[in-house]
Amino acid sequence: MDHLTSRRAFARYVAASPLLAALGASACEERKDEDEIAEEAREHPGTLGEPDQELGELVTKAEDALDVFDMRVTAERTLPPAHYGYIATGVDGDVTLRANRTGFARWDIRDKRLAGIEKVDMSTSILGTRMETPIIISPTGSQRAFHPDGELATARAAKSQKHLMMLSTVTTTSVEDVTEARGEPVWYQLYATSKWEVTEKLLRRAEAAGCPVVVYTVDLPVPSNRITLSRFIKRDRRDCTQCHAKTDAYGSRNTSFSRKPMFDGLNMTNADFDIPLHDWEFVERLKAATKMKVMVKGITTAEDAQRCLSHGADGIVVSNHGGRAAESGRATIDCLPEIARVVRKQVPVILDSGIRRGTDVFKALALGADAVGIGRPYLWGLGAFGQPGVERVLAVLRAELRTVMALSGTRTIADVGAASVIRNT
Ligand SMILES: Cc1cc2nc3c(=O)[nH]c(=O)nc-3n(C[C@H](O)[C@H](O)[C@H](O)COP(=O)(O)O)c2cc1C
Repeated sequence: MDHLTSRRAFARYVAASPLLAALGASACEERKDEDEIAEEAREHPGTLGEPDQELGELVTKAEDALDVFDMRVTAERTLPPAHYGYIATGVDGDVTLRANRTGFARWDIRDKRLAGIEKVDMSTSILGTRMETPIIISPTGSQRAFHPDGELATARAAKSQKHLMMLSTVTTTSVEDVTEARGEPVWYQLYATSKWEVTEKLLRRAEAAGCPVVVYTVDLPVPSNRITLSRFIKRDRRDCTQCHAKTDAYGSRNTSFSRKPMFDGLNMTNADFDIPLHDWEFVERLKAATKMKVMVKGITTAEDAQRCLSHGADGIVVSNHGGRAAESGRATIDCLPEIARVVRKQVPVILDSGIRRGTDVFKALALGADAVGIGRPYLWGLGAFGQPGVERVLAVLRAELRTVMALSGTRTIADVGAASVIRNT
């Protein structure tokens, strides 16, 4: 189909938007309707760059999604290419992005028969936050680019499904409104800028909103090279500059403040997100500056985990930003054992990047994580259907985890341990 001769595509072109660093409120006003999605599915039956068993199928109702990959296909067909590309992208050749998936395949699960488990209990508690399930919503920015309700839809889904939500600094909805929609405090993710006054004000605002934990992300001190995103942007026929600044694969993170409510009222002159000079003293500074617990997100080695402990971090998120930061080629599930060995349960460890099934959650718990985070899966649900899509993703992952726990003879999260998995290579 020629985009510019199609009535709908022309309307989309005129409405225009794409995203990126400065994604904003009007970003997804031109979502496709069901007929359009079905038409596009007929025209483009294939999907991009995913292993065969993870292709998924287009669905027209959230409850029809059999796994998170059905949501991915549906989100791809629903969202403007540049906005879907922002979710999909890794960096450079997307090697780390793919490694996050293949890493899980190197571990098998050891079944346990006749374990006499009547009811699986998935509840756990981390840094004083009680959770019904160890599946946490990892922080992702700019959610109104994927659905008009953005972070509110995610928070409402987190409430109805009883999951902990982490909220990004670059949220398109304020921490106060998200907390109200969630019905309980969220954990606040911090991108520190080069200006300490800005960081301090963000901390005060998160504290005032009741956040008990700040999650300090350390894996993006410089912009990353998001080539897949650039390729998707090239497919998008709309004029992105109507909504945000033109950008390249490296993004332009410093142009986005005006669209991000957490920066309202702050003097952002000379506040730079690119802060290669930050060091471990900054963790201590954060600890001294807030009454919130401080977790460090983006740790992938035992040495850095040890530094987290030495500098007083209250917890660690083993993460490579879903393969969107460094192109290390290393899956987080492969990083976890060495980190668990040095942490020795002194502080909680959460793992994200590549979690797509209940079996992945189980493997992470077995290898030393106390909980896991998901990023893209709930964004696919959000892009495809809004709140019901996020709810379905959470429900599917929970059901899958419950099943694998029962089949492995693990009644509680504490029962999932080293004996639950075995390396197959
Ligand atoms: C579209 C998108 C936006 C993200 N925004 C943020 C962010 O603002 N802050 C942050 O710490 N991590 C961010 N992340 C990384 C996630 O928190 C998480 O580490 C990652 O998505 C997990 O990998 P997965 O997508 O494979 O589940 C983002 C990820 C995606 C896909």
